[in-house]
Order: sequence, then structure tokens, then C-alpha cells
Amino acid sequence: MPSPSQQIMRLGFGFAVSQALRVIIELSVPDFVATGEQSVDDVAATTRSDADALYRVMRLLAAEGVFREVLPRHFELTEVGAALRSDRPGPADFVRMTNSEAYLAFEQLLYSVRTGMPAFNKVFGSSRFDWLSEHPEQAALFQRAMIALGQGSNEAVAEAYDFRPFTRIVDVGGGHGQLLSLILARNPHLSGVLFDLPSGIAAAHQGAGGDLPRTEFISGDFFESVPSGDVYVIKKVVHDWDDRRAAAILRNCRKAMPPNGRVLVAETLVPPGNEPDLIKEIDVVMLAVTGGLERTEAQYASLFDDAGLRLEQLIQTQGPISILEASPA
Ligand SMILES: C[S@@+](CC[C@H](N)C(=O)[O-])C[C@H]1O[C@@H](n2cnc3c(N)ncnc32)[C@H](O)[C@@H]1O
Repeated sequence: MPSPSQQIMRLGFGFAVSQALRVIIELSVPDFVATGEQSVDDVAATTRSDADALYRVMRLLAAEGVFREVLPRHFELTEVGAALRSDRPGPADFVRMTNSEAYLAFEQLLYSVRTGMPAFNKVFGSSRFDWLSEHPEQAALFQRAMIALGQGSNEAVAEAYDFRPFTRIVDVGGGHGQLLSLILARNPHLSGVLFDLPSGIAAAHQGAGGDLPRTEFISGDFFESVPSGDVYVIKKVVHDWDDRRAAAILRNCRKAMPPNGRVLVAETLVPPGNEPDLIKEIDVVMLAVTGGLERTEAQYASLFDDAGLRLEQLIQTQGPISILEASPA
């Protein structure tokens, strides 16, 4: 059993693992090792890297279960590492995305803790989404990373809710459009609106999230207004914003919907207790990067109150996401 100070030192070196992962992705190492056991000298030659340096990075990641060193300086890919192959897009994009701007913002986490404000704005001089609007390549990576993060959970949300009573669904901040695509495929009676900033709509136009039949693509700012519809899905958007801004988005949905309309906030709730949970990491990332937060059911209910909505029911999907269904109060 490591001593307390050894445990703390290991925690304090978290950045070494996250940046090592990013490096092997940038060098496409998982692709080269995917074909079978490889010597680090061959991988280094193919990736034009220093063999000894690459060996040390791969040895570190072997200790984390990404590779297996089967003979001295010969590695194979584990099942975990295989998730990083480029023919399985998703996790690799997510690691790339979190370990670039978000990583740099984290150096100023103390600023966020002292002020409650996003360190990202201090480091980059603009908010996360304004910055992405000015950096199309990073915005496209962000949308791919969102697809990775939603893997499985978009299907679970589309499956868990009965959309039969509605005619027009608006996906607010729908980005790549994968959730809307899955809902429309299951509900041929629905027409759809994908609403996002131009950078999100661009990803959907490129087909990033799948087919979008019967869909109007509208770009705009959800703090100004949202298009009209009778059911709103808003997944992993409210968590990007503090209470004041989150309530403003929900109020705009409330204004645009008919009295029998519904708003479906799809988010992962913060569980009680001390167990490790990815959502606790994402919560602190929200603090430093966007200025948002992960919430409990009670916190969402209170947000709905502020926005003139009432929490009707909480639906736990098959994945980590819950659907909080709200109606006009
Ligand atoms: C965390 S992503 C979630 C995307 C998608 N709903 C999902 O679950 O993968 C937040 C989305 O909100 C969009 N967004 C941010 N600010 C916005 C604004 N002011 N108006 C409209 N969309 C905005 C972003 O472009 C992004 O697509």
C-alpha cells in the first residue's frame, strides 16, 4: 500500500499521464502498435521520434494499462489502448481537446477558485465559445470530442423519452447533431431544428453527427432567442453556464414554446458521496474553462423555477445521462 505522501505525489503527477496520452495520439503510436507487437525502435523510426524518449513515455502508459510491454522494449496495444486507434474516432479526439486549451487554462485554476470566474478567459482573453468561433480547426475538434463524450449516451437519451405527442423538436446547442439525428430516425413524425453557433452548425453540415432529414439548420445565440418548437432538447449545454446564464437560456425556451410544450435538459447529475466519478472532473473543468458547473437534481429544479418552468419528472437513461423534463410553470 503506498504511503499517503506517495499517493499524493502520484496524484500530483496527473498531468504526466494526460500529456503522455496526447503525445502518443499525435504520433499515431496506437495505429502502429495495433498491427501487433512492435519494437519501440521501429515505432520511433516510423514516427520520427527519439526511441529512448518514446520508450519512457510508452512504459509510463503501459503502467496505466494503455500498452503492454511483452518483451524488453517491445509493446502491444491493450483493449484500453485500442480505443485510441484512429479508425475508432472518439476518445483520441477527446484527449486532444482536453489537453490543449483546457490544459493551459488549468494552470490558472487557482484564479477560478479565488474568483469563481473561468481561468480560460484570463489565459486566452476571450470566453471558451468566442475563442472557438475564431479557431475553426479547434471548433471542429471540439465537436468531434463532444461526439466522443456522447458515445452511447445519445442513443440512450433518444430511446428513453416518448416523443410521440410532439411535432417539432428543437435541439438547442445541438452542435454536431448526433442526438437530433437519432431522435429523428426513431420518430419519423417529427421535424427538427438544429440550433447552435455557426461553428456547431458547420460540423452538422459536414455530417459529423449523422443524417439529419426533415431538419432546419439555424445558427444564432441562445442568450438572444431560440427557434419555436413544441419540444426542446438541450443536452450538455446548461452545464456550460452559471445559474444566471443557464436560466436565461431556459427562459428563452420557455418564451418560444406553446403551453403544452416541454423542455428536456439532458445532463449527468452529480452523485452524492466520495466515490470517483468522471462528472466531478468535468465539473472542475467547467469551473476553469466555461464558468459552468455540474448540478444535482435540486439545483436543476431551482434553475427551472427561475426560468418560469416546473420540473415534471426525472428520467434516468441507460447511460450516465438523466433527462430532466420541464413544462411551463
Ligand atoms: C458542450 S457542447 C454540447 C453539444 C451537444 N448538445 C452534445 O451534447 O454533444 C455545447 C454547445 O453549445 C453551443 N453554444 C455555445 N454557446 C452558444 C450560444 N451562445 N448560442 C448557441 N449555441 C451555443 C456550442 O457551440 C456547443 O455546440
